[in-house]
Amino acid sequence: MKFFVDTADIESIRELSEFGMVDGVTTNPSIISKSGRHIRDVIEEICSIIKGPVSAEVAATECDTMMAEGRKLAEIASNVVIKLPLTWDGLKACRKLTDEGHMVNVTLCFSANQALLAAKAGASFVSPFIGRLDDINLDGLDLIEEIRTLYDNFQFPTEILAASIRSANHVLHSALIGADVITAPPAVIRQLADHPLTDKGLDQFLADWKKTGHHIV
Ligand code: E4P
Repeated sequence: MKFFVDTADIESIRELSEFGMVDGVTTNPSIISKSGRHIRDVIEEICSIIKGPVSAEVAATECDTMMAEGRKLAEIASNVVIKLPLTWDGLKACRKLTDEGHMVNVTLCFSANQALLAAKAGASFVSPFIGRLDDINLDGLDLIEEIRTLYDNFQFPTEILAASIRSANHVLHSALIGADVITAPPAVIRQLADHPLTDKGLDQFLADWKKTGHHIV
């Protein structure tokens, strides 16, 4: 399973990537807006650190303008993935940009039927949003399961990029279901290391070690 980090925070990307925790990065207009920087500068800097797929989202809603914006974003680096919303115009732009050889991530996916369309349009990635479905009392993980079945039934090569991940539980269950990729904020990726018995065990080991009065180096 691949780990993408859902952030424009350069320090977190750098820190996590230094020990193999980042296979790619996703951003969206809200994340870029929070960075206070121009999208071009943010994506350029991320791509100088991460060689895997880096998603940069268009801001247009009409096919031709989406394509123009997508091509512009793709000029930033060869590993830029053009992120397009799951609308009819987004799907049309997906087909055309994919045919031109670009990687496309179709985002804001909330149903298996939408994921089916993204695969038909040739998307490299589809991003089902787990947390936002949970927010309205639906089960986001059920959607991942449906898309996995559907893609496996017809051998669609589109990768399932489980997004809007809010907890370690979302990561675990996306992995168990067979999502190809998860994208999560740095804090959630760090949470995966937490376990109270690890903390308790370490405290005990350190206390016992102190009693020896020894030093390893
Ligand atoms: C995915 O590509 C999105 O950027 C992201 O996962 C959305 O997460 P949110 O619903 O927590 O904003």
